[in-house]
Amino acid sequence: MSLLRDRIINDGKVIDEKILKIDNFLNHQIDPEVMHEIQQEFVQYFQDKGITKVLTIEASGIAPAIMTAASFNVPMLFAKKTTPSTLKNETRYSTDIHSFTKDITSRVIISKEYLSKDDCVLIIDDFLANGNASLGLIDLVRQAGARVAGVGICVEKSFQPGRQALEEQDIDVYSICRIASLEGNQVHFIEGH
Ligand code: G4P
Repeated sequence: MSLLRDRIINDGKVIDEKILKIDNFLNHQIDPEVMHEIQQEFVQYFQDKGITKVLTIEASGIAPAIMTAASFNVPMLFAKKTTPSTLKNETRYSTDIHSFTKDITSRVIISKEYLSKDDCVLIIDDFLANGNASLGLIDLVRQAGARVAGVGICVEKSFQPGRQALEEQDIDVYSICRIASLEGNQVHFIEGH
């Protein structure tokens, strides 16, 4: 995957040793060409898994998730961080997700209407850091009795414990770019990623 990596190198801003800002092609302004390549990578890796739905969490996961869902010709569902007044308790699955990066805990929900025990769900997100967002989404899938096909991540910060937390639950994690460290104000990739 060269384009995402190239854009991280050329346009990414290392904020500190833990945070990489990629607002001009993924987290704020979104580059469709980068999204197109991300979609191709996820489709190639997960194509034989029998995916029936792609799940993400708002906001930044939505772009790579809808592109991937379009390729699989399946619906994309995103977990909401605010509960619509139209969705009563008994009609939704919910879980709490703590963001270490933002130091907030959000109750996220999905309607029971859109996940069933027959679903095989691919979870997509922009960043993998501590893994809490993905673990929360996995919890929602399991509440529905559905199966997790795997987790697809655009940018994994491999120096944080997210991948390990997911692998401990036997989740297949595929990350397009894997960052070994952000030391010295520079992005250091894991070789081959
Ligand atoms: P985790 O889900 O892996 O545990 O990560 P963490 O709680 O630390 O991160 C929570 C939020 O911060 C997520 O966004 C995640 O995408 C974002 N994030 C984590 N590390 C970085 C980083 O190095 N750079 C940037 N730009 N974002 C990072 P979110 O709360 O879901 O918000 P949204 O941006 O999707 O709206």
